[in-house]
Amino acid sequence: MSSISKPVSSKVSSQNTVEKRLQIQRLLEPTKVVSPSAGSDVVKGLTQTPKSLPPRYFYDDLGSELFEQICELPEYYLTRTETAILQQCAGEIAQITGSCELVELGSGSSTKTRILLDAYYQFGYSLRYLPIDVSAGMLESSARALLADYPTLQVHALAGTYEMALAQLEHTQLPTRMICFIGSSLGNMNSQECDVFFSQITDALKDGEYFLLGVDLQKPKHLLEAAYNDSQGVTAAFNLNMLQHLNRRFEGNFDETQFEHWAFYNETENQIEMHLRSLRSQTIQLRALNLNVHFETGETILTEISRKFDINSIQQELKAKGLVPQKLWTDTNQWFGLLLCQMQLSAAG
Ligand code: AVJ
Repeated sequence: MSSISKPVSSKVSSQNTVEKRLQIQRLLEPTKVVSPSAGSDVVKGLTQTPKSLPPRYFYDDLGSELFEQICELPEYYLTRTETAILQQCAGEIAQITGSCELVELGSGSSTKTRILLDAYYQFGYSLRYLPIDVSAGMLESSARALLADYPTLQVHALAGTYEMALAQLEHTQLPTRMICFIGSSLGNMNSQECDVFFSQITDALKDGEYFLLGVDLQKPKHLLEAAYNDSQGVTAAFNLNMLQHLNRRFEGNFDETQFEHWAFYNETENQIEMHLRSLRSQTIQLRALNLNVHFETGETILTEISRKFDINSIQQELKAKGLVPQKLWTDTNQWFGLLLCQMQLSAAG
């Protein structure tokens, strides 16, 4: 690509240069991006015992906003800790990979990504950024903000699920590629889902390419439970908002005052479990799904698991999948881990 040699003289030409560096590819029709299965996952979750709902329904506009607020909470150490680690190690990561294509899964607002972009720029490495997110709106606005701040950056955004986007990645023109999955969203997957996900990663990577993974680590129960039961009630609002989101999407009549937020650390499974608990016996209706759901008093819906990893086990698991851990960074408390893995250079057999 050609870099800009003189300052842009008007708003129009500046927009043109942004336009030339931006590509947004929709892998799903806009209406289906958030819910590929058009609610069949909701029907499935609400008709089984115990009831559950997929965590992706947290993230409508208000939910995404509430999540940003969660990241700022004093009790929610995850974002702050991972950001600090990234600030420490971004230069090292850039030096290890060199010029590369950076694929980010669940890019959201791309706030933490900027730390990496800055490091690559500092070393003068070329970079192409491929954010992947189910929210096309979020992708476009954060891509535009990045392009304005990084004058030579190329962005190729993919709106769709991780699975679709990973299956669709073309061969990179740059020397290597790094898939980033930071923010501990891996914690939302049970071990079976993790397995499938790691296979999708290894299928998408060529030998010698990189995988950067951020994971929340096991720690005392009281710290974990505080992080998911904050004193300002933002996490409770975030959890309950899923009901409003379902009401809007599927013509539902959930009354969120008739449910309460319930989160605890399951020490056997090493995971936070977030539930919505029915405060009375009630039947709700989701008209667009042609579904009536009955709740007993105290009955719960599991809305999210957030697994907390053992750093040695996760490294072994990755290695067994061919994603060989190259370097691990943590904070002084060992609360959070950032792992750089390299796709195994295939040996005979
Ligand atoms: C975005 C999945 C990492 O599990 O901590 C925050 C979501 N849920 N508070 C997490 C979340 C409740 C978050 N992840």
